[in-house]
Amino acid sequence: MTLNCHLRALCAHVPETVITNDDLAALVDTNDQWIVERTGIRRRHRLADTENASDLALAAARRCLEETALPARSLTHVLAATCTPDHLSPSIACILAGALDAGPVMAMDFGAACTGFIYGLSLGRAFLAQAPESRILFVCTEALTRRVNWQDRGTCVLFGDAAAACVLDSEGGEGSARVEDVLCQSDGTQRDLIVVGGGTACRYAPGDPVDDSFFISMRGRDTYKHAVRQMVQVCETLLARNGLTMDDVELFVPHQANIRIIEAVGSRLGVGAERVFVNLAEYGNTSSASIPLALAEARAAGRIRPGDRVLVTAFGAGLTWGAALLRF
Ligand code: ACO
Repeated sequence: MTLNCHLRALCAHVPETVITNDDLAALVDTNDQWIVERTGIRRRHRLADTENASDLALAAARRCLEETALPARSLTHVLAATCTPDHLSPSIACILAGALDAGPVMAMDFGAACTGFIYGLSLGRAFLAQAPESRILFVCTEALTRRVNWQDRGTCVLFGDAAAACVLDSEGGEGSARVEDVLCQSDGTQRDLIVVGGGTACRYAPGDPVDDSFFISMRGRDTYKHAVRQMVQVCETLLARNGLTMDDVELFVPHQANIRIIEAVGSRLGVGAERVFVNLAEYGNTSSASIPLALAEARAAGRIRPGDRVLVTAFGAGLTWGAALLRF
């Protein structure tokens, strides 16, 4: 049986407010040169005080439905990848379904941190295998600046806010991409390397001030090593099981966390810089939204043409990582 999962109308939304490296140098002991040399990041976007991750997702979702001309009532599922939800409950997916008046869809969030987009493609395929008539609104949305510790120079320079939305269905259509294969993996023994705090493990009584456990903490150097090793491994495994090599891939779109990680992964996979899409200078690490935001920009810039095969890969807290092959 051929499993048909198509990704349609990928639309991104980033908030307007920009934080530059110089803005951060006014907050912590850092400077533009260190941040650019060590990460490649120059700017990141931050949501307004009045916005939440669900608002970013809603803006992206509305554009996506407009582009597909699909009524919200034709959706069967709303699926949201996020590690920075508005609340522990209700889910962003339910908030979205309500705001869009999508009716009694199956709506749920899931957490795979920066690998959320790739895990979501795998979930979408599973839903479509179960019921090929499904039409899934899939969003990736993050408000990471709400969980950044602005006193921690090791992490506060890295993250930004963004959302992206697409529809997953069996039919596809003009400009859509077929999900050829997906591979998702994890290693929970390394769960302490990156923690996004604020869950129920943070024990607070009313009136308590929050402490450092409320924010993102990361062992950067160890994370870096795992990220390079696992993204290379998962890409090689995925290509091999499809009888492909990097020569069969027109564009490589890795998770946008750090330019040095991207260059190390690209070099080990033997892919030249001209086939690697990078936009992290403008947005920083937007976690689950990073790859769909990059894909949307790559398409808009004409870097992806009909017929192109695109390899995407990501790595994040959990640890989680994965890769997917998309055929436009
Ligand atoms: N400005 C200036 N100096 C800094 C800064 C800063 N912003 N941050 C750290 N430093 C200092 C450190 O204090 C340290 O100083 P010391 O030598 O005096 O102790 C020095 O720079 C080197 O620190 P390292 O952490 O070893 O620096 P490194 O080169 O590893 O870069 C970085 C740090 C950018 C965080 C890198 O390790 C990295 O990108 N790691 C991976 C992050 C990632 O991919 N995360 C993905 C998952 S995120 C998620 O899932 C939500």
